Amino acid sequence: MLFSKKPPAPEVDLEHLPRHIAIIMDGNGRWAKKRHLPRSAGHSAGSETLRRIATQVKKLGIPYLTLYAFSTENWKRAPEEVSAIMDLLRNYLREALRDMDKNQFQISFFGDLSALDPDLQALCDQVGEVSKKYPQCRMNICLNYGGRDEILHAARAFAADCVAGSADPEALTEEEFETYLYSRGVPDPDLIIRPSGEQRLSNFLLWQAAYAEFYYTDILWPDFREADLLAAIGAYQQRKRRFGGV
Ligand code: FPP
Repeated sequence: MLFSKKPPAPEVDLEHLPRHIAIIMDGNGRWAKKRHLPRSAGHSAGSETLRRIATQVKKLGIPYLTLYAFSTENWKRAPEEVSAIMDLLRNYLREALRDMDKNQFQISFFGDLSALDPDLQALCDQVGEVSKKYPQCRMNICLNYGGRDEILHAARAFAADCVAGSADPEALTEEEFETYLYSRGVPDPDLIIRPSGEQRLSNFLLWQAAYAEFYYTDILWPDFREADLLAAIGAYQQRKRRFGGV
């Protein structure tokens, strides 16, 4: 039984689910402000939502989930807020290690992890390594991630291979370039969800979003629930995807 309390919304076709859902977990700060709480309380509630939604994504059998946890621009926030987010990440990853065999996610990271505290980098490496045994549901956590930064990072690596003689600029294809992205091996997202009423991409998966369907909702991320995910999937299933064709 997938849903003990609420049955799936009837418009959701469980046979034609998106293969890859990506989420911009937005609205934590506003959620906290409405309750006269510090912003960190919003992020804490947001990480609880992440636990619920990841569990549901896995139960539905969707094999890829990508989450925007910390952008290259988020360093501009107050140091207390940055360290609160990093502490939540630490807790989440420690818990992921502890409950790995119960939750069974393969966890990978997109972004430049070298800017993170050394203990957090080590934790990311450990989680990435240990969770490789669960490839059925891959969770990609974007950390110190920016879409432009990812493309630059890939371009630098490709240029270095050209200089070293192991790559040929004239022969470069989209498929080969993708092997230089943080997302190598992961199919493009089918559905990108952004809660909190903002309707922009904010430097998220710029390359990979080329043909993604977008779903926006006014619900703030800490309030986003299983039924909201089903509503997003239902909306996605109403779209006609043509990938540039007719
Ligand atoms: C955006 O909301 C959210 C973030 C910048 C941080 C997201 C982090 C978490 C949900 C918790 C840690 C992550 C993991 C993977 C455990 P905002 O602060 O910009 O909200 P606002 O627009 O309402 O101010």
